[in-house]
Amino acid sequence: MKVMVVGGGGREHAIIKKIKENPSVEEIFALPGNGGIAKDATCVAIGATDIDGIVRFAMENAIDYAVVAPDDPLVLGSVDALQEKGIPCFGPNKNAAIIEGSKVFSKNLMKKYGIPTAEYEVFSDMEAALSYVKTCAIPVVVKADGLALGKGVIIAATREEAAQAIRSIMEDKQFGKSGDQIVIEEFLTGPEVSVLSFTDGNTVVPMISSMDHKRALDNDEGLNTGGMGTIAPNPYYTKAVADRCMEEIFLPTIRAMKAEGRTFKGCLYFGLMITPNGPKVIEYNCRFGDPETQVVLPLLKSDLLTVMQAVTNEKLAETPVEFADAHACCVVLASKGYPTSYQKGFEITMSEEAEKHTYVAGAALKDGKLVTSGGRVLGVTAVRDTLKGAIDAAYALSNTIHFENAFCRRDIGARALKAQAEE
Ligand code: AMP
Ligand code: GLY
Repeated sequence: MKVMVVGGGGREHAIIKKIKENPSVEEIFALPGNGGIAKDATCVAIGATDIDGIVRFAMENAIDYAVVAPDDPLVLGSVDALQEKGIPCFGPNKNAAIIEGSKVFSKNLMKKYGIPTAEYEVFSDMEAALSYVKTCAIPVVVKADGLALGKGVIIAATREEAAQAIRSIMEDKQFGKSGDQIVIEEFLTGPEVSVLSFTDGNTVVPMISSMDHKRALDNDEGLNTGGMGTIAPNPYYTKAVADRCMEEIFLPTIRAMKAEGRTFKGCLYFGLMITPNGPKVIEYNCRFGDPETQVVLPLLKSDLLTVMQAVTNEKLAETPVEFADAHACCVVLASKGYPTSYQKGFEITMSEEAEKHTYVAGAALKDGKLVTSGGRVLGVTAVRDTLKGAIDAAYALSNTIHFENAFCRRDIGARALKAQAEE
């Protein structure tokens, strides 16, 4: 089989390494991939949002199966375009990817179907939004409707901050058309849990839970990033919480999308907060999370490509999806200065052992050498019987990876360890 994976980050590297385990896979193409992914797949210089280019490549190269991993090509309808040419795909259609593409859509869906989430109001008029935040409870959360490179959510501690966020989204158009509408919502508290799930539109199979670490610095300080590390499973996601999520969130969401004529097939990511009033949805993503995938897939015992094909063929109910009874930790190595400004082009070296467990996010090949090309450079994952073991092993591996200006958080998994101890 010839498989094509659209995207070029650590998540895609993890997907590719896992798909390679299937013996029927002869070749994997990554569009565009990156310098690290090039070890495991043939990288093709076609951008992830170049839908015509992606479709043309798939046709010319007789691709048997396509996986579209990032949000923007999904929201733009790349799966529809590939399916029109008869290419089987993993990923939702455009009309289902809207669950991530529009926060107004997802909030209204949850309200209509009684799915627990933060209370909210939608605004398309800036003046109305500004007068609303003069009286609402504080802190308050301001969200741009559309995709905003993960930067469209502002937690405002004061009314002034809220007003400033509204102005920069709606007046200055910081995120372009993504800010034509905004959601202003209640600030929730509690530990966050990421649950990725496989769904074929009828059956939903949650994967092992995980915990992201979004802030740049230790103790959850510093700016928001694309994710500095992850652990799985998440100790806050107990059996009782999982059962509630299935009944109150996962199944109702799948059924709601079907009832709306927007059947969701692919990986549906539930960003949850375990509030004092039970689990609530913070956000939906229409795809695998990054860097959650880098801890979830190493724990998947079943064959990934088989499960993906079962999703495509609506046979998920008959297909076993099993996870190891173990723990994983992924530590991200970034370039000093990330997420604001940083230098690129430094050579990366690593031990052979580390390379097996490394998922490259931002690196290029230059004269045959791997050099940094992004803020988040790579993630390294260890799987062990205990969380402590996985954390120690991931950091030990990270110590064998070198590039100038590298930094990582030193406390990935620390909060989870503490939660485990308190159980
Ligand atoms: P993202 O949507 O990934 O940019 O991140 C949004 C982050 O903002 C979440 O991971 C939460 O930590 C936080 N967040 C979003 N909505 C709320 C809310 N209603 N209450 C509290 N925190 C929130
Ligand atoms: N780790 C959060 C995301 O993928 O959106």
